[in-house]
Amino acid sequence: MKVVYASRMGKVEDFVRRLGAEDVLKINDGTETVGEDYILITYTDGAGIIPPAVEKFLEKNAGHMKKAAVSGNSRRHADTFCGAADRLAEKYGAEIIVRFEDNGDDASLAAVKAELK
Ligand SMILES: Cc1cc2nc3c(=O)[nH]c(=O)nc-3n(C[C@H](O)[C@H](O)[C@H](O)COP(=O)(O)O)c2cc1C
Repeated sequence: MKVVYASRMGKVEDFVRRLGAEDVLKINDGTETVGEDYILITYTDGAGIIPPAVEKFLEKNAGHMKKAAVSGNSRRHADTFCGAADRLAEKYGAEIIVRFEDNGDDASLAAVKAELK
């Protein structure tokens, strides 16, 4: 399955690199389009929100989003940890594979890898 991801500071990008997925698209400004099913991997922005570029991307491409994995930082953002996951579930009905810390650990990588097979 295709992986679509967003990364501002490089942590999600590192997670995606370690995933070793073959078919990968990065969301830059949100104008990208996909014509096939994908797993979304994104960081959390603001006070627990979906990054604006990801929101823009989803306006056109939410229909192909099968599942999502979300990064956050529980030490700096304890109250809104991985809030983007809650928004994705509420607004788009996304099934959340895993909420992970920054660039993710082995368990979060394994959870997403299992979905790609
Ligand atoms: C401005 C800003 C706001 C953030 N807000 C949240 C938040 O509300 N909840 C959370 O869990 N993480 C939050 N984070 C942490 C990032 O989502 C987390 O570090 C993520 O791994 C960053 O991914 P990236 O390096 O690929 O951009 C925030 C980070 C920044 C810079």
